[in-house]
Amino acid sequence: MSIILTNSIEEVRQNIKAYKEGKYTIGLVPTMGALHAGHASLIKKAKEMCDKVVVSVFVNPIQFGPNEDYEKYPRTIDRDKKVCEEIGADIIFAPTPKEMYGDKKLSNDEITYVCPPYNLVDCLCGKSRIGHFDGVATVVLKLFNIVQPDFAFFGQKDAQQQFIIRQMVKDLNVNVEIVSCPIVRESDGLALSSRNSYLSKEDRENALSISKALNQIEKLYKSGITDTEILFDAGFDVLKDNVYLEYIEFRDYENFEKVKTAGKNTLVAIAAKAGKTRLIDNIIL
Ligand code: PAJ
Repeated sequence: MSIILTNSIEEVRQNIKAYKEGKYTIGLVPTMGALHAGHASLIKKAKEMCDKVVVSVFVNPIQFGPNEDYEKYPRTIDRDKKVCEEIGADIIFAPTPKEMYGDKKLSNDEITYVCPPYNLVDCLCGKSRIGHFDGVATVVLKLFNIVQPDFAFFGQKDAQQQFIIRQMVKDLNVNVEIVSCPIVRESDGLALSSRNSYLSKEDRENALSISKALNQIEKLYKSGITDTEILFDAGFDVLKDNVYLEYIEFRDYENFEKVKTAGKNTLVAIAAKAGKTRLIDNIIL
């Protein structure tokens, strides 16, 4: 069967209805496209675990701030289709903003938003990206309602996003299991990101300091240092001459609370700008 590429909610629903009648399990991989090996690893995992795999490709306008890169975000649907086809996905759902949100003004004056808990939003990426996670939670819930997947696949790369989605699923009783997939990196350590395509040669070299800082923190932790102030300073030393640091945060990966003493399951998350490009990365100790 050749892959179905559609921008129609109705067409997705019809196919999903047939899958459900056939008792197939359904996996959803939500993406914004410009697919790379990180996305591919999610689609492969979905293929392993589910009978039918839906990949959504949608640059979601309501998760971008007014000064962010919505307009210039890479859109490469022909290539994305090839990637999905090669892995054996069944449907690519690539709606237009109009198909998703109609003609309404994209604000909570006119459309319903999902607002994740403030405690999870007012920290890490949410501090500089006001409203971002409302936009993410809203579109992901819409995708869950359209596709009704048994499993949905998210990368650890966006750890805060994944945490927020899990909380939303729990709080709103969504009948889906969230599957977490490890971060895929370039051979030199840079975490794959669709935004890496913005990096000049020099930016890319500087961006490498992010994964190096995480490695340095991990190395010190393994040597017995658990004080997060010391670990922060060690990371900062690696980053300071290369990128504009936004945060290095230490959080418990189970409950997302701040930790002062690092331990097993501590998430170390970094956001920084290489040139003008904002990048994120993390490790779990
Ligand atoms: P996007 O940035 O396209 O990412 C889609 C999924 O791919 C996310 O779950 C993300 O964590 C995962 N991913 C990205 N880079 C990865 C890497 N190097 N290794 C492993 N997984 C990686 O995240 C979004 O889109 C959007 O916010 C979305 C959830 C689709 C809602 O619009």
